[in-house]
Amino acid sequence: MNMIEVRHLEKRFGDKVVLNDLSFAVAPGEVYGLLGPNGSGKTTTINILADLLSADAGEAWIQGEPISEKSKYALGIAPQMISIYRDLTCEENLRFFARLYNLPAPRVEERIRELIAMFRLEDYRATEVAKLSGGWKRRVNMAVALVHRPSVLILDEPTAGLDVSARFELWELIEALQKTGVAMLLTTHLLEEAERLCSRIGILSRGRIVAEGTMDELRATIVARQLAIVETAAEERLQQAAASLGWTWRRRGDRIILWLPEEMTLQEFVQRFVDIPLKSVALQEVTLEHIYLEHTGSYEVPDLAMV
Ligand SMILES: Nc1ncnc2c1ncn2[C@@H]1O[C@H](COP(=O)(O)OP(=O)(O)OP(=O)(O)O)[C@@H](O)[C@H]1O
Ligand SMILES: [Mg+2]
Repeated sequence: MNMIEVRHLEKRFGDKVVLNDLSFAVAPGEVYGLLGPNGSGKTTTINILADLLSADAGEAWIQGEPISEKSKYALGIAPQMISIYRDLTCEENLRFFARLYNLPAPRVEERIRELIAMFRLEDYRATEVAKLSGGWKRRVNMAVALVHRPSVLILDEPTAGLDVSARFELWELIEALQKTGVAMLLTTHLLEEAERLCSRIGILSRGRIVAEGTMDELRATIVARQLAIVETAAEERLQQAAASLGWTWRRRGDRIILWLPEEMTLQEFVQRFVDIPLKSVALQEVTLEHIYLEHTGSYEVPDLAMV
């Protein structure tokens, strides 16, 4: 049984179609990364899973339970907009949400102690949330989501606005949680974060998943085995030379990104373009960033009539 299952979800706001036949599933123990540009519908999907918003069509389940009052108990959510009470302390927030989930009184204090230790909130337990920095608010936001020991956790941009070391600590917490068997759905704009944390990734574009899989499976969705990032004043000649080798290219700003069908050394690369003045060349492995940009249509692609 999947921990989260979404089938053929549709959602529109007025004339705007946000989700258009969205389907994906999160298996037990998995950290699934839902990636997509601003406004692509990640938070909308999460709001539907949280029963805060109803879909126009389609279905969703949490641990086999259709979205309902009951499914809420299996699910913890750390929302993108921090949703804890600003005028309560960290400890008071944890207590408030523990009671909201009907945790038995003796379990409440025990769980608060566990979460304070896990999120290293000892120094701030009696501090009002309003007085915490953004990074600490995010930690409390995540601790609150776990108060009822959910088996499924949704993290909507959990590290947005965090400094490098705070982000690193949250990554470690997420990895520790995964080891305890909590399945997670995570959204992020940091592709490095998704690559590190997620066992599978789905790329959301135009309302549906346009590419999905492990990093290896995603790499296989584009023909490049390696990339050459090139700066040159002789762009057209470079593009024509690449086309005659049967290579495709993309543009990002003032750089041309050539898709190499096989790995090669810098020397092997340069030998193929001896007649073309190249300002700079950097060979790179294919990262999630390139795969993401490709599937979300953010690259300028070759005009085949031209080459
Ligand atoms: N209550 C609402 N009424 C009208 N439009 C809405 C509402 N909620 C969201 N939208 C629109 O739906 C689209 C998807 O928004 P959503 O917040 O789900 O995107 P997102 O993928 O989470 O983006 P981000 O990466 O910026 O968080 C946006 O165009 C947004 O303006
Ligand atoms: Mg969002």
